[in-house]
Amino acid sequence: AKPIRVALLGCGVVGSAVARMLVTNAADLRARVGAPVELVGIAVRRPAKDRTDLPVDPATFTTDAAELVTRADIVIEVIGGIDPARELLLSAMAHGASVITANKALLAEDGPTLYAAADAAGVDLYYEAAVAGAIPILRPIRESLAGDDVRKVLGIVNGTTNFVLDKMDTSGAGFEETVTQAQALGYAEADPTADVEGFDAAAKAAILASLAFHTRVRGADVFREGISDVTAADIAAAKAMDCVVKLLAICERTTGPDGDGINVRVHPAMIPRSHPLASVRDAYNAVFVEAQAAGQLMFYGRGAGGDPTASAVLGDLVAVARHRVAGGRGPGESAYADLPVLGIGTS
Ligand code: NDP
Ligand code: HSE
Repeated sequence: AKPIRVALLGCGVVGSAVARMLVTNAADLRARVGAPVELVGIAVRRPAKDRTDLPVDPATFTTDAAELVTRADIVIEVIGGIDPARELLLSAMAHGASVITANKALLAEDGPTLYAAADAAGVDLYYEAAVAGAIPILRPIRESLAGDDVRKVLGIVNGTTNFVLDKMDTSGAGFEETVTQAQALGYAEADPTADVEGFDAAAKAAILASLAFHTRVRGADVFREGISDVTAADIAAAKAMDCVVKLLAICERTTGPDGDGINVRVHPAMIPRSHPLASVRDAYNAVFVEAQAAGQLMFYGRGAGGDPTASAVLGDLVAVARHRVAGGRGPGESAYADLPVLGIGTS
């Protein structure tokens, strides 16, 4: 079969793990997809950076991402941020490429523009890695639960803040030093303020709520409070009550006299130590989903870091590549309702 040409945009924490898996697992990928999966280029910002640890021909690297996306069947975007990521993805789709991204900030800011471009081009737009790292959570909500009525999605969706709160709780470590550790381990965003102040979790909550409730929620719609005001004294006070502090993302369907709505919020909360979420340690994530017929479901796993995130990206790659081999595409986005997003104080 004709090779599937893959372009990788970004080769940092996530991109380098993706590149390594693409090369190392090439034979398995070929067998699973039914065609060779060929890495045709990797776009980076700093061409002089030493990347000799990667099993990739140096000629594969380019700084011309705009040109690279025009000669690929599948574009994987792990640059991050809004621009140039958005322009590159739109151009990729306009050139007929399917797209995979881990970029929750972009999806929560301007997802509908990307969904519309994917529909117009008849290509796939997959982004399992954008929420909760390695945990398969979006495909279950988008596909497996599509016939049910999801009422609530709740959990820990930011690895960095969970790492920080966990270390403060267990070793009495300071806030700043644990944030620095999370950065060194590749968990944090390029600007860790996005993690600490809850923007990253809010973006993920927006994506989860949009998929779960078949509507459109933007990151800016989400009530957000981060962990920068959580002090050692707060952690100690929680401990005295046999509780831990966790940053929660909560997405709920609400019904009231004024009709249906949704409440989406991110904030620190005290959790009894006996609760399953209290035992989510390090940079792990956990998400509970409650649906009318299914009842309660629980998803748990590594929420950040190169390899776990690359696992989710490669899963999307196999799905999207299979669609291309079969000459079709997977499910797109299908918002059917513009449910009012009710703020935490107004629900
Ligand atoms: P990094 O900062 O480690 O890597 C970013 C990469 O993008 C670098 O290779 C950089 O090049 C490249 N880059 C930046 N700007 C450009 C540009 N204009 N053109 C071409 N390449 C460019 O980020 P991460 O790998 O941590 O994150 C990438 C994405 O994945 C983000 O959207 C993030 O939110 C998401 N994500 C990250 C997770 C994690 O645990 N780290 C988990 C889940 C999602 P250079 O190497 O030359 O600097
Ligand atoms: N910075 C994010 C986190 C990466 O800590 O959860 C995973 O999305």
